[in-house]
Amino acid sequence: MIPAPVLPDGWRLVALQSVGSTNDEAARLAEAGSPEGTVVWAREQTGGRGRRGRVWASPIGNLYSSTILRPDCQAMRAAELGFVAALAVADIVPAGRDVRVKWPNDVLVDGGKVAGILPESSIGQGGQAEHVVMGIGVNVGFAPSLPEMRYRGACLGGTVEAALERLAAALALRVAEWRRDGFEAVRAQWLAKAGPLGLEVDVKLGDEVVRGRFAGMDREGALLLDTSGGPRRIVAGELLARAA
Ligand code: BTN
Repeated sequence: MIPAPVLPDGWRLVALQSVGSTNDEAARLAEAGSPEGTVVWAREQTGGRGRRGRVWASPIGNLYSSTILRPDCQAMRAAELGFVAALAVADIVPAGRDVRVKWPNDVLVDGGKVAGILPESSIGQGGQAEHVVMGIGVNVGFAPSLPEMRYRGACLGGTVEAALERLAAALALRVAEWRRDGFEAVRAQWLAKAGPLGLEVDVKLGDEVVRGRFAGMDREGALLLDTSGGPRRIVAGELLARAA
């Protein structure tokens, strides 16, 4: 029998067979007062959600989890936690595989997308983040291949239970590091795992595609690009795989 995942001290697992979206279930629990470190995990999702309103196909075999975080900070800083989560996912990739983070919150292994991250914050009066639900989908057993995917998929291998255990441990450590050392430490480590500076990239901004060279990420988490028209700072958009 596969042992049940063990979470870090003080964290609590809510294990479900099937749910619409673990993010919705975690948000419901957060609204009802569940503490930081509550992890909602489902074997399958019937309404898994991706960024930009996309569907996240969620049949049995991969990891679908949402963790409640209570960062006690302004909403702008809560957005930093998406980068924190990307580093946590990178931490659980087995040694010997090429791991890269892709702005804003994706993780690529050997060039394929292995995980997607969907942070959803509840903002209170005065712009304070009441809670952040950190939704993380990790391809463990298989790499989905769907026509709408912009990157090919990759998978980690191993069991979903082991992946969840390692992910929760890594996320707890990374969040503690963010609290202790601030975003600057996170940013430096994220940049070390991002594609090389100067790499030619395309970024989709609504209907517009901006082409330029990757010039880093600033202290607010914005993507920096050098384009033919000069430097650009992008706060929301999607980095595309370059066709050629
Ligand atoms: C992306 O578009 O890359 C983000 C995908 C996030 C998927 C995860 S799976 C667990 C959690 N529940 C959801 O409905 N979405 C996130």
